[in-house]
Amino acid sequence: AMGREDMVREELGSLHGIPLYKCFIEGWPQVEAFQARPDDLLIATYPKSGTTWLSEILDMIYHDGDVEKCRRDAIFNRVPFLEMKVPEMLSGIELLEKTPSPRLVKTHLPVWLLPTSFRDKDCKVIYMARNPKDVVVSYYYFYQMAKVHPDPGTLGEFLETFMAGKVAYGSWYEHVRGWWEKKQEKQLLYLFYEDMKKDPQQEVQKILRFLGKEVAEETVARILHHTSFQEMRKNPAANYETVPTTLMDHSLSPFLRKGISGDWKNHFTVAQNECFDQHYQEHMAGSDLHFQMEA
Ligand code: PPS
Repeated sequence: AMGREDMVREELGSLHGIPLYKCFIEGWPQVEAFQARPDDLLIATYPKSGTTWLSEILDMIYHDGDVEKCRRDAIFNRVPFLEMKVPEMLSGIELLEKTPSPRLVKTHLPVWLLPTSFRDKDCKVIYMARNPKDVVVSYYYFYQMAKVHPDPGTLGEFLETFMAGKVAYGSWYEHVRGWWEKKQEKQLLYLFYEDMKKDPQQEVQKILRFLGKEVAEETVARILHHTSFQEMRKNPAANYETVPTTLMDHSLSPFLRKGISGDWKNHFTVAQNECFDQHYQEHMAGSDLHFQMEA
């Protein structure tokens, strides 16, 4: 519709050893120099771990459950993506400069690459993690629909790439463990996608407590309804359908694809699962961080 060619799939570059999109790497100097504000709230995740879900919940909390206000713009504009930079769109940094405080900021950066300003300003952080089997399946479909990625190959090949830490943002294991260690600090809330699926009300209460906010019971109910998978999937302000199709092709796979725990069981072979379990045990050894692989 815009008369532009599809974005050409490109191999990932490397940012301080982390595989990442070359266009993001170009914007890195601005990201590194980013000036956080003390009332910025950082939403940190490994990709495909529930970022958009958590973002919508937080925007609803910030607007006291006002559904109309949360339709004011697409989620990626309401919650700017810190290190995002693609041709012909405002970068995350440019968007953040235009965003009034208090800002919600999305990042997928591993903890050791976070711009120092967030620490200096003592910003609150909410991290959300999801079990790696569902992450890798979700990521596989995302590689297909979001054309900033190289071709993922078969699922078997993609599993190898994922386990080797060669997907965008690198090793899932290092990401979740790195942020988990950071949890010692009081300003970090570490959440799990699987808990949010099981008992969203309890998790929203955790978030409210962490933010020191109180909201009416019916507001919580409205937040839960508006941020359910079914509601978000049909909400153009939450489902990414307004992204140019040159960047994302929802006919290949919708951004809000299934929204469940345990979909990996429909994708992994028995042999792939055994191999993955073995690798998981090796890479999570000695950690007190545990994941629920299904609901
Ligand atoms: S991204 O691109 O990294 O920001 O993607 P992210 O939002 O982290 O992850 C996308 C997956 O989250 C699912 N999702 C949800 N699940 C349950 N409930 C709600 N409301 C919800 N919103 C998004 C989304 O469907 C992707 O997971 P899969 O397994 O692919 O469906």
